[in-house]
Amino acid sequence: MIKKRFSKPPLALRGMRDILPKEQIYWDKIRKTLPKVAKDFGFKRIDTPLLEQMELFKRTVGEGTDIVEKEMYTFITKGKEKVALRPEFTASIVRAFLENGMDRWPKPVKIYSMGPLFRYERPQEGRYRQHHQLDFEIFGRKDPLVDAQIILVGAYLLKKLGITKRTKILISSIGCLECRKPYIKKLVEYFKNHKSGLCKDCKNRLKKNPLRILDCKEAACEPITNKAPKLIDSLCQECHNHFKKTLSYLEEVNLKYEIDPSLVRGLDYYNRTVFEIVARDKEGNNKYALLGGGRYDGLAEILGGKQIPAIGFGSGIERIVTELMQNQKKEKVKEKKRVFIVGFGELGKKKAFQLFNDLLSSGINLRESLGRDSIKAQLKVADKEKARLALIIGQKEALDETVILRDMQIGSQEIIPRDKILKQVKKMLRK
Ligand code: HAM
Repeated sequence: MIKKRFSKPPLALRGMRDILPKEQIYWDKIRKTLPKVAKDFGFKRIDTPLLEQMELFKRTVGEGTDIVEKEMYTFITKGKEKVALRPEFTASIVRAFLENGMDRWPKPVKIYSMGPLFRYERPQEGRYRQHHQLDFEIFGRKDPLVDAQIILVGAYLLKKLGITKRTKILISSIGCLECRKPYIKKLVEYFKNHKSGLCKDCKNRLKKNPLRILDCKEAACEPITNKAPKLIDSLCQECHNHFKKTLSYLEEVNLKYEIDPSLVRGLDYYNRTVFEIVARDKEGNNKYALLGGGRYDGLAEILGGKQIPAIGFGSGIERIVTELMQNQKKEKVKEKKRVFIVGFGELGKKKAFQLFNDLLSSGINLRESLGRDSIKAQLKVADKEKARLALIIGQKEALDETVILRDMQIGSQEIIPRDKILKQVKKMLRK
C-alpha cells in the first residue's frame, strides 16, 4: 500500500520542544548535580508513571485550579479508565508513598524525582506544554525547621548548578483551614465590590473557589487581585508562630528572603508556608519562578491515608537551562584528547573498523568518519574535530598488520605494529 506523504515535514506540537545537542551539556550538568544534592540532604529517588488516574489530580491539585480545569491532558483508555498525563509530581509521589507503605518508614522520609510533566498552558518564554521538573519532598515532620530546610535544599541546588546571581527567595504563609474561613469571607466581600472588572472565569470562581482568583493570569484581574486583602494578615496564632519560626531558621542559615503576601501558588493542597525562588532580569524585575513549593499537611489524608505533614518543591529544568545558557558562564566540555581512526580501500576500512571496535573500551576518546572513502576527506574531519592523533590503515597496513600513527599537531607519522598500537597511543596521549 502506498503511504500518503506529508506535504511538508511535520513540526513538534505547540508548546513542546526538542532538547537539541547544544543544550544537552546543561541537562547533563543537572542530571549529574541532582543525585549529589539529594545525597547531601539524604533524599532517595522515586520514579512514578507518566499516567495516573485523572481523579488523583482533581482531588489534590483541585477542581477549581487552572491546572485541573484547563491544562490537564486527559483521555479515556481502551479499558474505559479516565487517566491524565501527570501535570505535577506531588500528587503522584504521595499516591506512591501510601501505596508502597512508605508512611511506615522512619520519619522524615525524603524523596526526590526528575522527569517530564504536561500542562496544556498558553506557551511563552519559560512556559511549555511539556516541561521537566526536579522535585523534592519531605514527609513526616511539621516542625518549621523543615520548612527552612526544604528552602535551603532549593537554594543549595541552584548554587550547585551555578545559578548564584539574580535570584530571590519569596515566601509567605497561606495559613490553615481555620484562618482561611474568616479570610475567604473578607475576600469575597472585596471581590464582590470589584466584580465588574473581573474576567469571566473569575466571576465564576467567586462562587466556586474565590481563592483561585488570586492566581488568575489575566491582565484585567491583576490590578484588582494586587489590592485584595492578604491571607498573611489573617493568620491564626499557631500559623503565625510557625511562619515566624520558619523565617528565623532561614536567617540562621543566612538565606535572604522577601515576604511576598501575594504568593498564593496555583495548587489547592498547600497550607502554611509557600515559597518560590525567582529569577530576575538585569533591571531587577522578576522573570519567572525557578522553583516553587510549600507545605501540604492534608494531602495524604485526602488520598485516604493518615494525616502526614509534608513539604516540598518543584523546579523547572527548562528555566534553569535558560538561566545557565543566558547568564552564566558557558559550560566547557572537558573533552579528552581525540584519536581519529582512518581507513581506506576495502581491506583498510575493514581493519580500521575492527581497530575502532578493539579500542572502544580502552577509555580513549575515539572518533571516525569511516563512511567516507578518501583518506583526504577523513583527515579533514579529523582536523575539524581537533583530533590529537590519527590511526590510519590502508591496503598495505592491513596486509602488514600495522597502523600509521599520525601526530595531527606536527604532522609527523610512524608505522607501528598493530599489536603495539594501544600502548603507543597511550604513551603519546600522556605527552
Ligand atoms: P509549580 O509551581 O506548578 O509547582 O511548578 C514548579 C516549578 O515548575 C515552577 O516554579 C517552574 O519552575 C516550573 N514550571 C511549572 N510549569 C511550567 C511550564 N509550563 N513550563 C516550564 N516550567 C514550568 C508544582 O508543580 C508543585 N508540585 C511543586 C511542589 C512540590 N509543591 C510541593 N512539592
